[in-house]
Amino acid sequence: MAEPGHGAGSAGGKLILCGEHAVVYGHPAIALGVDRTTTVHLRRVDGPTRVTEPHPDDPRLLRAVRAVVGDGWEVTIRSELPIGRGMGSSAALAVALVRALAAAEGRAAGEHEVHGRAFACERVFHGNPSGIDHAVAARGGVVWYRKTPDGPALTDLPVPDWSLAVLDSGSAGNTADLVASVAARMPSVAPLLDRIGALVARARDALSDVDTLGPMLTENHRLLAEIGVSTPGLDRLVGLALSAGATGAKLAGAGGGGVVIALGRDPSRVVDEASRHGVAGFVCRPGARP
Ligand code: PMV
Repeated sequence: MAEPGHGAGSAGGKLILCGEHAVVYGHPAIALGVDRTTTVHLRRVDGPTRVTEPHPDDPRLLRAVRAVVGDGWEVTIRSELPIGRGMGSSAALAVALVRALAAAEGRAAGEHEVHGRAFACERVFHGNPSGIDHAVAARGGVVWYRKTPDGPALTDLPVPDWSLAVLDSGSAGNTADLVASVAARMPSVAPLLDRIGALVARARDALSDVDTLGPMLTENHRLLAEIGVSTPGLDRLVGLALSAGATGAKLAGAGGGGVVIALGRDPSRVVDEASRHGVAGFVCRPGARP
């Protein structure tokens, strides 16, 4: 039970294995929980809500926080997730805020409440979110996700026993702008989104097999590049990962920056090779639960 006037909540990061952007249009996507978290502490204060850490003067952050908690809170945010890298930092914040507020009210937030209230916060960052990010931030694991007119349709998939190499492009993408740029290209990009949806269905059947799944990830990257959300830097990281022995690689998240994920038998080799080219990276085991 939280001390009166205080509440804390946390949530995890995510990586999209395949299906980003197409998921906004009702196609399925597969996302993976990541063992890095965001924790929020709330303390009751008089007057408007303020954020003490980490960016007290960021107006968008304050708007997103107030979309969940309203006024009357001092909010401290601690996050292990890089911002704007496609690892779900804003969704983890949204879910952690909903949980912290519920804790401050002496209760636990249910799944329905988390989804609904986190959506309001995500809208500030994402414009038109599919909901996949905060679904995975809340539950972790490996999730098959589909946005339907009746709400999210989720299935937990078995956690595979491979690890991914995650390579950082060093720059942040703007999810809201990228999602809007795809919308502006509709309906001409619809056939590419259909192909991504079909590929995600095949990827689900190949989830445990790095040799079959890898080339599907590379194909997903090419389709995302055709849609216009990759960058020369992300394409270069995909090439670097493949030449270091990855069976497949793709951008993960909205694109325009962020990270590339690479699958293969030896993800450490991919990370080492990337570091020789001045690229930061790490090995990530999928399926963590916050
Ligand atoms: O927040 P990001 O960079 O992981 O992107 C989210 C995935 C998109 O499909 C691009 C948007 C969405 O809401 O599903």
